[in-house]
Amino acid sequence: MFIKNIEVKSKTILGPMAGVCDTAFRIICSELGAGMVYTEMVSIEGLKHKNLRTESMTYIAPEESITALQIFGEDKESFAKAAKYVSENSECQTIDINMGCPAPKIALKSKSGSSLLRDVNKIGEIVKATVENSTKPVTVKMRLGWDSKTLTILEAAKIAEENGASAIAIHGRTREEMYRGNADWSWIKKAKELLKIPVIGNGDITDEESARDMFEQTGCDAIMISRGAQGNPWIFRQIDHYLATGEKLARPTFEEWAQVVRRHWSLVVKYKGEDLANREMRKQFVWYIGTLPKKEICKQMKEEASKINGINDINRIIDMYNLNVEG
Ligand SMILES: Cc1cc2nc3c(=O)[nH]c(=O)nc-3n(C[C@H](O)[C@H](O)[C@H](O)COP(=O)(O)O)c2cc1C
Repeated sequence: MFIKNIEVKSKTILGPMAGVCDTAFRIICSELGAGMVYTEMVSIEGLKHKNLRTESMTYIAPEESITALQIFGEDKESFAKAAKYVSENSECQTIDINMGCPAPKIALKSKSGSSLLRDVNKIGEIVKATVENSTKPVTVKMRLGWDSKTLTILEAAKIAEENGASAIAIHGRTREEMYRGNADWSWIKKAKELLKIPVIGNGDITDEESARDMFEQTGCDAIMISRGAQGNPWIFRQIDHYLATGEKLARPTFEEWAQVVRRHWSLVVKYKGEDLANREMRKQFVWYIGTLPKKEICKQMKEEASKINGINDINRIIDMYNLNVEG
């Protein structure tokens, strides 16, 4: 798939997740086959006010695959400024505009994210302002609309395309649905039929079969996986392999699993320091443990993982599994 002039070699993409898709996790997913990775959403107001933490979120490491830096906000002038800042200061290959976040703080308080889907003309203005001030291709990630009565996705996607968007990612739920029920992929198919630019299908892809179904049912150009990659970054190469051969790749061995957990830890320490790494890895480690088969011992491991303090704790918890399986 090409996003304007940028070639994305694998059709599996890591979706943006605030609090999850930091540099470390993006590197891990890139190394395990994600053809493209999205950052956590970055505030355009934070960039405008030169907030140091916000600026640091625009850093992209050399080990990452093609990377989309996702920005969120409401005001078109701030989008223009952010596009300029990112073009000049970030190594990302594309800029993505968040038109999907349902969180009250974003969608209600700051009228950003999925709130933008309520005003289709404004979408056009925001995309135009971003494209005009960016040296990188601009994409948009959208939900289907605000609620079931206002399914604006097709109009929104069309106007984004007309104003210069180079690809659209669609999560098949409305804002009202949050994460409930099943994603409705039929709108992704309709958008694919309507648009000339690439369409990326998103929502509820968790394994090889659901990835295949998304392609078959929608004709989308690539798939985006978010929650399915939590604790399971192997999902990208597993899906790639299945799509190419029709066969399932063996699950990672325990040794490989442990090696990736340790590498993830060392990357978080490298980019965030040990204090933050502890907090970050507590959540990530619990997800990793959730993918192991021996559920009985995993329960104990998860309890311990939520309290880790340093690599020695990580090694000790990994050994709990080892000893249990051997014993
Ligand atoms: C913890 C979490 C954080 C998320 N943060 C973002 C975000 O920053 N930007 C965004 O566009 N979507 C965000 N999403 C939505 C996902 O990218 C994705 O659209 C949604 O989870 C559906 O895909 P999935 O079924 O593959 O998870 C987030 C989802 C989760 C679970």
